[in-house]
Amino acid sequence: MATTQQADSKTIPLASGAAAEGGHFAEFIAKPLDFLKRVYEECGEVGEFDMGGLPTVLMVGPDAHEAFFRAPDEQLNAAEAYQMMVPVFGEGVQYGAEPHIERQQLKIQYQGLKYDKMSNYAEVVAREVIDFTKDWGDEGELDFYEAFTSLTLRTSTHCLLGSEFRYRLTDEFAELYHDLENGIDPSALLDPNQQKDTFKKRDLARERLQELITDEIHRRRDLEAAGGEALDDMLNIYMSAHYEDGRKLSEHEITGLVIWFMFAGHHTSSNTSAWTLVEIARHPQYQAELVAEIDRLFDDGQELSFNALREIPLLEGFIREALRLHPPLNAISRRVLKPFEFKGFTVEPGKNVMLCPWVAHKLPEHFPDPERFNPKRPAPDNVFAAIPFGGGRRKCVGNAFALLQVKAIFCELLRHFEFELSLTPEQYQEIMPALILRPSDPCKLRYRRRTSI
Ligand code: HEM
Repeated sequence: MATTQQADSKTIPLASGAAAEGGHFAEFIAKPLDFLKRVYEECGEVGEFDMGGLPTVLMVGPDAHEAFFRAPDEQLNAAEAYQMMVPVFGEGVQYGAEPHIERQQLKIQYQGLKYDKMSNYAEVVAREVIDFTKDWGDEGELDFYEAFTSLTLRTSTHCLLGSEFRYRLTDEFAELYHDLENGIDPSALLDPNQQKDTFKKRDLARERLQELITDEIHRRRDLEAAGGEALDDMLNIYMSAHYEDGRKLSEHEITGLVIWFMFAGHHTSSNTSAWTLVEIARHPQYQAELVAEIDRLFDDGQELSFNALREIPLLEGFIREALRLHPPLNAISRRVLKPFEFKGFTVEPGKNVMLCPWVAHKLPEHFPDPERFNPKRPAPDNVFAAIPFGGGRRKCVGNAFALLQVKAIFCELLRHFEFELSLTPEQYQEIMPALILRPSDPCKLRYRRRTSI
């Protein structure tokens, strides 16, 4: 193990095995989580590797997380680290915007995700979830990675853009969105603007999406002008929002905010649902207790939309453990703009720093017997130990919406069906092809309609 040395500070250990060409990039792309685990095992709390010419420092553990999340943007900068998202969201939107504009855009996203909006979304999500299972019959088998991916695309589109858009345009929207997603392959980390077919398609998809959203904005403005009522969804929030100087968001910016919301919330929620179901089926010893908990919710005659907002301790324990062992986002990154000091180490400007929840969530000092899935595991003592939603000022703003969605899915599924693995428990592997952790293909499970309700 080599080291990098800064004057007056401890040396940051360097991970072994850098190739002469590209450093550790090839190993990171091939098996990102195994690689980051290796960096931690070799180097400890702070360890450096070479991400294809970009020196990157992995920081692991609650103290490191806290220092990372507390650093101001002028020191540890998110926008510089996530430039691969700029062609997807668009120039002038989030990581492609000036910091004071980005801050205001984030506030606008937050307005639509405040707690008082949740009961509206709960109704939309409940409607989609009920629709989702209506043709299942009494038993069958489904690939739940695929099923939850398309369900959460529908719920997100519905909450964002309203039912008219959702039911009229889902297929075209899904195709365009798919082309946008394919524009985030790992090579975009090095250069998101290189000449590649997938990147050209990404840019065409963004243009077309802007046309569709602009049409929808005009349609709504015409309806409102004719005396119709404004709709209560995210698009309406974007349409009525304005910056501090009074300027309204342009159609380009609104499209960017729609894409940003979709990207932030779609696969993160669908993969969390897929893992939660896999873990429920892998741990049949809890199914009876889980089902009893869900049945009790419905005993008092409440609707799914209401129940999904209630406390559901064991189900929430399953979701929390799914997020601990299989956190969707595992390369939380910032570019160092001013020297960043931590426990005697100094990370110099120009480098990236990175957190990896997957590695951090297995530290035995914070999560005893860390590999064991335990839905009754107490919360760790240190609030910075579990970071599936990030932390600090940039902590996930969609946290409540995500939980509402996953809880609605499981209230409905467990109320009517029992689940069982179709493969052996070990065959449900973790893969991370597009920088988001997901279950391997196929992710099939069998379901059977419950007879006891
Ligand atoms: C289980 C589901 C989810 C997980 C695990 C998750 C995780 C995260 C994480 C780790 C971050 C911090 C990234 C960083 O610091 O660089 C983040 C940020 C964010 N998330 Fe989520 N997220 C989820 C669902 C959602 C949903 C449903 C939405 C929107 C409805 C959403 C919107 C956002 C936004 C807008 C940010 C950016 C905040 C900022 O840049 O300051 N997320 N999320």
